Amino acid sequence: MNHPVTRRDLLIAAAITPLIVACGSDSGQASTTTTGPSRARSTAGFNPLWIPPLLTGPHFDLELAASSATLLDGKKVDTIAYNGAAMWGPTLEMHTGDTVSANVTNKLGEDTTTHWHGIHLPAEMDGGPHQVIKPGATWKPNWTVKNRAATYWYHPHAHKLTWKQMNQGAGGFIIIRDDKEAALGLPHTYGVDDIPLVLTSRAFGTDGQIDTGRIYGDYLLANGVMNAELKAPAQMVRFRILNAEIERAYTIGFDDDRKFWVVGTDGGLLDAPVERQRLLVFPGERYEIVVDLGADTVGSSIRMRSYNTGQNQRAYPGSEPDGNPQFSSKLNNRDFDLLRISVTDRTSKAVNTLPTTLVSTGLWNAADATQERTITINGTPGNPFYFDSSVYSMDRIDQRVKLGTTEAWHIQNTFVFSHAFHIHDVQFAIVERSTGPVPDHEKGWKDTLHIVPNELVTFVAKFDDYASDEHPFMYHCHMANHEDEGMMGQFLVTTDG
Ligand code: C2O
Ligand code: CU
Repeated sequence: MNHPVTRRDLLIAAAITPLIVACGSDSGQASTTTTGPSRARSTAGFNPLWIPPLLTGPHFDLELAASSATLLDGKKVDTIAYNGAAMWGPTLEMHTGDTVSANVTNKLGEDTTTHWHGIHLPAEMDGGPHQVIKPGATWKPNWTVKNRAATYWYHPHAHKLTWKQMNQGAGGFIIIRDDKEAALGLPHTYGVDDIPLVLTSRAFGTDGQIDTGRIYGDYLLANGVMNAELKAPAQMVRFRILNAEIERAYTIGFDDDRKFWVVGTDGGLLDAPVERQRLLVFPGERYEIVVDLGADTVGSSIRMRSYNTGQNQRAYPGSEPDGNPQFSSKLNNRDFDLLRISVTDRTSKAVNTLPTTLVSTGLWNAADATQERTITINGTPGNPFYFDSSVYSMDRIDQRVKLGTTEAWHIQNTFVFSHAFHIHDVQFAIVERSTGPVPDHEKGWKDTLHIVPNELVTFVAKFDDYASDEHPFMYHCHMANHEDEGMMGQFLVTTDG
């Protein structure tokens, strides 16, 4: 295939200097902070992992406002966050079948929106680019929770402001629980053996503030904390991992190479736990994993790491070589720490074994689809990536779907880089990857998928329940810079298609 030359090709071609990198795990502040959910002192050089407070609903009040966080070298930086957090807002817990409502108030000096990522709801409640919340205004969506138990999230999604507002810190988890999940006996005590873990990185400008225009950060943040440490009991521990990066991918594992189990994807639990040693997570994707600390000595520690060394530079976001101010970062092309896990005493409700089967996903397969369409990822030299030769327009409807139809969408990547394709409204089943078999840990409900250059990925989804002739849903790349630069389209779900 004959690729046009892009800025990224030029960058890769020019890469002749070996990487000079600072260690991501030794550059944060030294601290003995004792605030946070784990009351014990954290180990010298580490900061306690922030566990966002849990709001249980069914009504949620959220306020997005200016805030500040203490990050590099103990310096305060300006952030924006929900409900007075430093960088990552409260976790909203919902139950399948609940009717929930929210008041979302914008205390910023500019427009924003709050999108419920992965949630199946009416388009006008979705919080995409059309549901603008003006400065000082309050938006009041409500919906009935139809999603399965899994890990979802909320974040700003205003047109051309997503990249900046996410980089400034705004976002939060949504945990949906249901009876099936509750009956399984998985670790489920929030903040104790059921740990929300959002991974991002940040870069700082010469003024010491977060450089919101950077694509890759130089310093890893776990739940908004640099050099984070979790005190975790010596038993099965579940992590709800979210990659909320602008563009970087993570290949997650543990420093002693221990295996762990993937139990859930973006929109639900798997049929059965899938054992892995490494796990690729692209921006927007969530995986729930369980790791067994049962044989670890109290007082010992392990590290969760990302193994980003030696990845394919054309395909792996965060493997670009150094030397370009736009794409380089101190974390690129390296293995780096995500979280130090220090083992503490078992809890009285310790989970020691995993069930061999979880739920019945009932995933769609290719034969279920009665309609198909192809979305082509392309671009031109010097221009951004986009879909089907068109930069996003808020005024153009790109696809029309008939309510109740089960469709196969073929995503064809014809251009030079990988992407994180995300669609609103539905959870889908990945039924085919042209690059090889769909791995077992991807055989669960998903709303975001990674796609490498020249790959064709097909998913099947049913567009059920919510129709509107007026309010579109989005599909886009979840790399926020690509989204803001126009790699987004909109679809209407209507009763007549
Ligand atoms: Cu997480 Cu359209 O977004
Ligand atoms: Cu992209």
